[in-house]
Amino acid sequence: MRIILFTGKGGVGKTTLAAATALYSAKKGYRTLIISADAAHSLSDSFEIQLSNQPQKITPRLFGQEIDALREIENKWGEIKSYLVDLFSSQGLETIEAEEMSIFPGMEELFSLMEIRNYHKSSDYEVIIVDCAPTGDTLRLLSAPEVTSWYLKHIFPIQRTAAKAVRPVASRVLPFPFPEDKVFAAMKNLTTQLAEMKEILSDMQKTSIRLIINPEKMVIKEAQRAFTFFSLFGYAVDLIIVNRILPPEVQDVYFKKWKTTQAKYLQMIKESFSPLPILFSDLFTQEIVGKELLLNMAEKVYGKKDPTRLFFTKNPIRIEKADSGFDMFLHLPFVDKQELDLSQKGEELYIQVGGYKRNILLPQTLLNFSIKEAKFESKKLKISFRL
Ligand SMILES: Nc1ncnc2c1ncn2[C@@H]1O[C@H](COP(=O)(O)OP(=O)(O)OP(=O)(O)O)[C@@H](O)[C@H]1O
Ligand SMILES: [Mg+2]
Repeated sequence: MRIILFTGKGGVGKTTLAAATALYSAKKGYRTLIISADAAHSLSDSFEIQLSNQPQKITPRLFGQEIDALREIENKWGEIKSYLVDLFSSQGLETIEAEEMSIFPGMEELFSLMEIRNYHKSSDYEVIIVDCAPTGDTLRLLSAPEVTSWYLKHIFPIQRTAAKAVRPVASRVLPFPFPEDKVFAAMKNLTTQLAEMKEILSDMQKTSIRLIINPEKMVIKEAQRAFTFFSLFGYAVDLIIVNRILPPEVQDVYFKKWKTTQAKYLQMIKESFSPLPILFSDLFTQEIVGKELLLNMAEKVYGKKDPTRLFFTKNPIRIEKADSGFDMFLHLPFVDKQELDLSQKGEELYIQVGGYKRNILLPQTLLNFSIKEAKFESKKLKISFRL
């Protein structure tokens, strides 16, 4: 099973390249499914075929689905939400505020993405292509399994069995409603499903991210920040696709300056993302909708290459044995030492890079060691754990 996520800044061509890649994957013979994890679905518009909540045939080997996120949220979060609304109301919040507090941003995308788990379990498809929301939402989404599990673990620290024993007393003495069994059950279910999803998404033998860029300053900056985030969270990017490049035949003086700046930024992209492979897509003479144009785009981008292959196989986080300890390496090419904050508390390693924070749960082997040193070595952060 191959899972490929397409992301990038708003409007760079994520949906178009995801759709094009999916068509080409199917043409190469793979049973392929394309789903949208962007609450603002636009796959239907791209294929010019109305998609729905069930996989629908686009070509003999390609199916497409626009997930009904609200239904997924109701299924998986309904019980928890009702409890949270009661809880917040008991603390004096108005109903509307309590309702708002019981959902979190990015939830629609998160619950859509959880559909991947179901397909992963079945063997209906060999390739799943995911059209993601713009980078900001995708980042929030990909940290959500960790953040939500942490949240659930800390806000509901009492185990279900213990809860049975304390509920009769607790519900009388506590100034807030005590969760019922079904809330604990929903919680446990959700935590398990999130952990499963996190495992699938961070397994780089299965899942990789493709970052779509246009040769423009702000788009590149955002892609660099996203890349830092993915490395920090251990998600693998296997390919950069630069879209909307003005082709050589554009000679009009109006575009002369555009071509010069594009050339400059193309160089910058190559230098900064190296050694990640980069593919290129020209700006077409018209918008790219419908199967024929999409497939044409994919064939130009990938040439004869298999669009589903893993283009880059280095793990963003690596742990190596060293003399009297271990070294952990994180691939962080766009980070300054000044932006970094690092600390260890028991089994949790806390890393803050600029605006991103991550609590990495350290593997068992590292627990007996403590951080001796952290330094940057050729685009990598090296953290030394010693006795
Ligand atoms: N290389 C290209 N040449 C011409 N038109 C393009 C190219 N790439 C994308 N487009 C067009 O640009 C528009 C936006 O593309 P698309 O919807 O794929 O972007 P997106 O990144 O998914 O946007 P959003 O952030 O809104 O989801 C579409 O109309 C698409 O047909
Ligand atoms: Mg889109």
